[in-house]
Amino acid sequence: MSSTTPKRLRCRLATFALGLCLMPAASASAGVASTPRAPAVIYAKTCGYCHGQHVAPVIRGRNLPPEIIAQYVRSGPRAMPAFRPTEISDAELKALAQWVSTSKADPKEHEQ
Ligand code: HEC
Repeated sequence: MSSTTPKRLRCRLATFALGLCLMPAASASAGVASTPRAPAVIYAKTCGYCHGQHVAPVIRGRNLPPEIIAQYVRSGPRAMPAFRPTEISDAELKALAQWVSTSKADPKEHEQ
């Protein structure tokens, strides 16, 4: 008995730890995927906080390629923060990049 118990315990601990690791990942991606926000909402709440507000360059009305926009959002170069898939999902980012790329310039926005 004394030789089998630790083995069983170790196994249970491993299963428990694995469950802990998988749980947040599964629930986070499910939560984001089930409620995609509209691109204009994400832009207004997140990007527009800096872009067009004397903090960062205007990005609307410039026909910037969607791939470049998505790359900036994920990598966050220099003074721009990076956004993770838990903050802006892949599906949201795809729609957002397309929206920014094709959106018209907003006359209320200012260059940095
Ligand atoms: C905290 C402020 C801030 C937020 C929020 C922010 N950005 Fe930026 N962004 C910047 C800054 C500053 C730069 C200029 C970085 C540099 O030095 O090249 C930049 C650069 C960019 C560029 C390149 C522009 C160019 O002229 O080369 C794109 C595209 C961009 N951001 C997209 C986005 C999108 C889309 C969002 C929303 C998800 C966003 N940014 C949110 C600060 C921000």
